[in-house]
Parts: sequence; C-alpha cells; structure tokens
Amino acid sequence: MQLAKRVEALPPYLFARISELIAEQRARGVDVISFGIGDPDLPTPGYILDSLKQAADEPANHRYPETEGLPEFRAAVARWYARRHGVALDSVREIVSLVGSKEGIGHFPLVLVDPGDVVLITDPGYPVYEIGTLFCGGESVKVPLREEDGWLPRLDDVPAEVARRAKLIWLNYPNNPTGAVADLAFFERAVRWARAHDVVIAHDLAYSEVTYDGYVAPSILEVEGARDVAIEFNSLSKAFNMTGWRVGMAVGNATLVDALRRVKSNLDSGVPQAVQQMAITALDGSTEAIAEHNATYVRRRDRVVEVLRALGLRVEPPRASLYVWARLPEGQRSSAAYAQQLVEATGVVVTPGVSYGEAGEGYIRLSLTLADARVEEGLRRLAAFARGERAL
Ligand SMILES: Cc1ncc(COP(=O)(O)O)c(C=O)c1O
Repeated sequence: MQLAKRVEALPPYLFARISELIAEQRARGVDVISFGIGDPDLPTPGYILDSLKQAADEPANHRYPETEGLPEFRAAVARWYARRHGVALDSVREIVSLVGSKEGIGHFPLVLVDPGDVVLITDPGYPVYEIGTLFCGGESVKVPLREEDGWLPRLDDVPAEVARRAKLIWLNYPNNPTGAVADLAFFERAVRWARAHDVVIAHDLAYSEVTYDGYVAPSILEVEGARDVAIEFNSLSKAFNMTGWRVGMAVGNATLVDALRRVKSNLDSGVPQAVQQMAITALDGSTEAIAEHNATYVRRRDRVVEVLRALGLRVEPPRASLYVWARLPEGQRSSAAYAQQLVEATGVVVTPGVSYGEAGEGYIRLSLTLADARVEEGLRRLAAFARGERAL
C-alpha cells in the first residue's frame, strides 16, 4: 500500500516522542507528571453542562446540524464580540461555527492556498498552521520570533519576493508556546502590512480569555478596516474548559467566512446542536468562571516560575496563555536533551521548544493545566533536582 505523499510528509506528532518517554518511565513504575499538553484539568462549569443536558432531550437536536451553526449560536458569538471587543459582526455573513478551532485552522488553507503558494507561519508556533498548508501543496515559510522582540514577528523583514508570493499569514496572540501577547498597535501594523502586500491574516485568538494581572487580549478585528483582510479563529475550549465538546468559531471577512463554510460543508456537518446550546449559555453567561480559572492558573504560574528560576532557567511570568516558556540554563543548548534529562531524573515531562519550530530551540514549555497537587509534586521533584538531590 502506498500512502499519499502528504501523509508521508507529516512530521511526527508533536507529543509522539514525549509519549514514548512517558511510556518508558511508566514501564519502570515511575509516577509521571506531565506539564506537556495544554488541556484544562478543571471541569466545564456546571451551569454550562446543565444546558447541554437539557438540550440533549430535545429531538430537534438529534438531527444533522447546519455547517454554519445555529442562527442562535452565531447571534451569541456576535453578542460576545460586541461585549468583549466592541466589534459589531453580522451574524449571518461574518460568523461560521467550527468543530473546535483546530478544525477551522486546519481546513482554512483550503480556502486560499493553491499548490506552490506561500503561507507565512511564525516560528515557534502551533503546528497545525503548517499542516493545513502542507495538505494544500502550499509552501510554509517561517517568520522567526525572537525573545528580544517580545516574540512578535518583524514583518518588514519578510523579503519582498516572499511577501509577493504569500497568500496568508498566521498570527496567534496570546501566543502558544511563548505566552507572548500583542497590543492593538501591533495588530494595526500587521493589518497595514497585509494590505500593502495583499496577504490575508488569519489570527488565532484561542487564548483570549486566559489572561492574568489585569491584561485584556484584543481581537485583531478591533483594528479599523481589519475585516477587509482578516479572519479570526477562537473557541470555547480554553475560556470555558470545553476542549472535550469541540465548538469554536471563525469570524471576520465575509468572503473568507463564506468560503470556509463552503469548504466545511463538504467535510463536516457542523457542531452538534446541543453543544451549540451549551456554547450559547457559556458566551452569554457571566465571566465569573473565567476569572476563577485564571486565578488558579496564576497561582500555578507563580509557583512554576519560582522553581524554574531555582533550576537556572530564565523565565518571565506570562500575562496570558496556559504556558510558561523558559530559556534553558547557561550551557544547555538542546531542549530535547534537557527535557529527556528532566523526565529521566524526575519523572516530570516538559515540552522541548524545538517541537514548535527551530526558533523554539533553547526553550522549554510547561503547561499549567494539572491539578494543584500534581503541580506541587512535580515542582518538589524539580526543586530536588535543582539542589542536586534524588527527585524520585
Ligand atoms: C494556539 C492554539 N490554537 C488553537 C488550538 C485549538 O483549540 P480547539 O480546537 O480546542 O479550539 C490550540 C489548542 O491547544 C492552540 O494551542
């Protein structure tokens, strides 16, 4: 059997090597503590689950949903954008539901990218941007992010020839994996650059609500005229601990939203309506649960930062996202080797920065989505390791 080249070309899944290491340690009887994956440990709030349970009893919700989402769901997204970002969206033309934002992000290049077209991807970055381009036969060109730039891309450094061939650029702030944030002035510059080069911006706002210390994440659509060139992806996953329910949205430029809807209508049949009902409850509800979750993450963040500094890593507390991004101690260069050393000595799993792209080399990422007791046990082991004591 000969699999398609696009499948052969798939890079190994980001966590494949980590999964192997975990399996090896478990086989030795080690209680592995993983700071690897960013999947909230806290449950979906009860009032949101109640609306799912109620909606499940409704026979109308047992049938195929529409790809674009219930009008009521899209209206709730429009209300959310108005309240949260001061952005007025036409819920019919400018909003489409997604089966989680990963689905929309993976499929979106099908809307724009023909074989040979260039897509600009920030490095380090969420791996799905590159995969969507690969599936279309497009060429991903990496735009490096650097610590000294606050992990924002230098768009003016993109060579004119590359910008000319580029159809699309992916941006993601608050950022995975670096935890970096962007202000509206950055998005204004990005929109100006995109207009000048006739490039579409796809902005991934998945971590918009996971913010700390009073920081409020803007939407790119807050920039005047952004919707001429931009589409934004978001989801209920991180804001409301709903990763398991798979519901998100793409909003913005009506032509792009409609094209994505047309592509998707040939691939999926939309988000289960009962899940859309729970999303409406979440979007229209109070922000109390979000504040509670963020207070938990902040507590964990501060403890993680403290212990990583004791280990000799250089780290700033992130103002958003579920991740602490830390620079390896002096003299350590390979993030994979460092992660392996940690898991072998302590049973603690972290993600090597290089898994997110070459520019992530020299860093590791720790997710804040483990129960407090597990965070503390993991940190106890790392602190022991830092003191040169046995951790296990
Ligand atoms: C940057 C970023 N975008 C999008 C997603 C996808 O989230 P979901 O498909 O649950 O909406 C993730 C998930 O970890 C992410 O880190």
